[in-house]
Amino acid sequence: MVIDGRTTLCGLFGCPVEHSFSPLMHNTAFQYLKLNWAYVPFKVEPHQLPRALSSIPALNLAGVNVTIPHKEAVLRYLDELTPCAASIGAVNVILNREGKLVGDNTDGRGFIKSLQEEAGLIPAGKKAVILGAGGAAKAAAVQLAVEGAEEVSIVNRTPGKAEQLARAVQNLGSKSRVLTWEQTGEAAAAINEADLVVQATSVGMYPDVNSHLPVPEDAFHSGQVVYDLIYNPLKTKFLKMAEIRGAKAVSGLGMLLYQGALAFELWTGTAAPVNIMREALQKQLKGR
Ligand code: ATR
Repeated sequence: MVIDGRTTLCGLFGCPVEHSFSPLMHNTAFQYLKLNWAYVPFKVEPHQLPRALSSIPALNLAGVNVTIPHKEAVLRYLDELTPCAASIGAVNVILNREGKLVGDNTDGRGFIKSLQEEAGLIPAGKKAVILGAGGAAKAAAVQLAVEGAEEVSIVNRTPGKAEQLARAVQNLGSKSRVLTWEQTGEAAAAINEADLVVQATSVGMYPDVNSHLPVPEDAFHSGQVVYDLIYNPLKTKFLKMAEIRGAKAVSGLGMLLYQGALAFELWTGTAAPVNIMREALQKQLKGR
């Protein structure tokens, strides 16, 4: 990659950013399409966030991704939010539209795209259970409701967070109920009845690969899609359990890929080379 006076820059604001897969994914795509663009990770401490955001128009960046811990904090500094970012209440991509900062969220849309591409599942009319109620759970749950899922129930350790998310889902027209992990039997029954189960907690993520949520293996069955938003490891213990019982198991690599592909398209106006980006991600994951 040659950076010169005509290079268009975009990047990532987060803290930390060292382990992000996004620079590799986007720079591989720019090189493949021979676009004179570059994607740079910026470590932005929380107290520097307002100044970092002002630098987007000042330095003429095309836009940035936003990650932990800034996804919600950026909202108040932006000029505009897309309806999608507003309903999720978080931003993962900012566009510089002639100096105006527009916040969007491609996490939920990336998740839906991955569901369709990798599991052939269309959410309209389906019953889903989301395990977790953090940022990733919120993006998935809200987008499932937007896509017309019949029911999006939430199981979470902290009931208050789940109740808030259930209300957001209900406001978008889907049914929703809240359970906690103490209600083991009810949670297992809800999982058993669901067409789609989304594991959206950090339980089972590297290096804690032997952990899984307290879900009995016989809650899963064939005909179900079980999606773990974790991509490291590619197959969590939770996914292995679901797969043993015949469910279609899908890892979070697809959501990572498609949220990035959608951001790429928003910035460049060019179709993202999804297969090339997926290969780059898989290679980096194997190397870890
Ligand atoms: P992310 O942005 O990846 O979604 P997050 O917003 O910190 O991360 O959310 C993490 C989710 O994992 C939360 O739903 C959290 O449950 P709480 O809302 O009760 O905090 C869930 N989680 C983390 N560790 C957990 C554990 N040991 N058991 C059950 N749930 C856990």
